[in-house]
Amino acid sequence: MLKVAGLSRAFGGARPRQVLRGIGLELASGEYVAIVGESGVGKSTLLNLIAGLDEPDGGSVIFDGVDITALAEPERTLLRRRRMGFVFQAIHLMPHLTVVENVALPLALNGVAPRERAARAALALAEVGLPDAGASFPRQLSGGEMQRAAIARALVHRPRLLLADEPTGNLDRDSADHVLALLRVQVKREGAAGILVTHSARAAASADRTLTLTADGLRG
Ligand SMILES: Nc1ncnc2c1ncn2[C@@H]1O[C@H](COP(=O)(O)OP(=O)(O)OP(=O)(O)O)[C@@H](O)[C@H]1O
Ligand SMILES: [Mg+2]
Repeated sequence: MLKVAGLSRAFGGARPRQVLRGIGLELASGEYVAIVGESGVGKSTLLNLIAGLDEPDGGSVIFDGVDITALAEPERTLLRRRRMGFVFQAIHLMPHLTVVENVALPLALNGVAPRERAARAALALAEVGLPDAGASFPRQLSGGEMQRAAIARALVHRPRLLLADEPTGNLDRDSADHVLALLRVQVKREGAAGILVTHSARAAASADRTLTLTADGLRG
């Protein structure tokens, strides 16, 4: 379902720094992996490339039979919108939208009717333990509550590929466990593929297997 091969990315002008070199990864439907590795090693860079938010210097990302790296930006945007869900390391809720509007955004972008999207967004908020936060604005929530709202937004359109970058960084242990369970259930129930980037061993243990990213590549 997801096949990453020979993926490379360097940053910088005159003296570029090679961050990723020849990365390979294969995920089947229903498979959920954790990626760990030192800060700055390139985990978020890898997720951005898989999502088609950034372009590699070499290699390919095949998702549902389509090479994302060969698509133009408008097609990549559509693919992301329809079939991917993200939880970013920086949470990125829209400050001028209410929480329920934020959560409903992927549905709105996919043309779901207002009434259905309100109902599904409310359900997603209840699932992350925020049944009463819908009418609030993000700035009225705590860091952990914002993170849970971001997770509701990532799951609301039932994505085929779920990418989560340190999704439990701001959460206490019980909330973290709850969120980790939700992410896992989403992958298993929908037969999606899931990638969880984390520094937490406890979080990594919620995935099927753990891969470690180092300067030498991605290893099991
Ligand atoms: N857009 C960019 N321009 C220049 N350098 C970048 C860019 N994005 C990332 N980098 C560099 O690439 C390296 C890897 O960054 P990345 O964010 O992928 O690390 P990470 O493994 O996610 O770290 P952390 O665990 O701290 O989140 C870092 O040295 C970073 O400075
Ligand atoms: Mg990162």
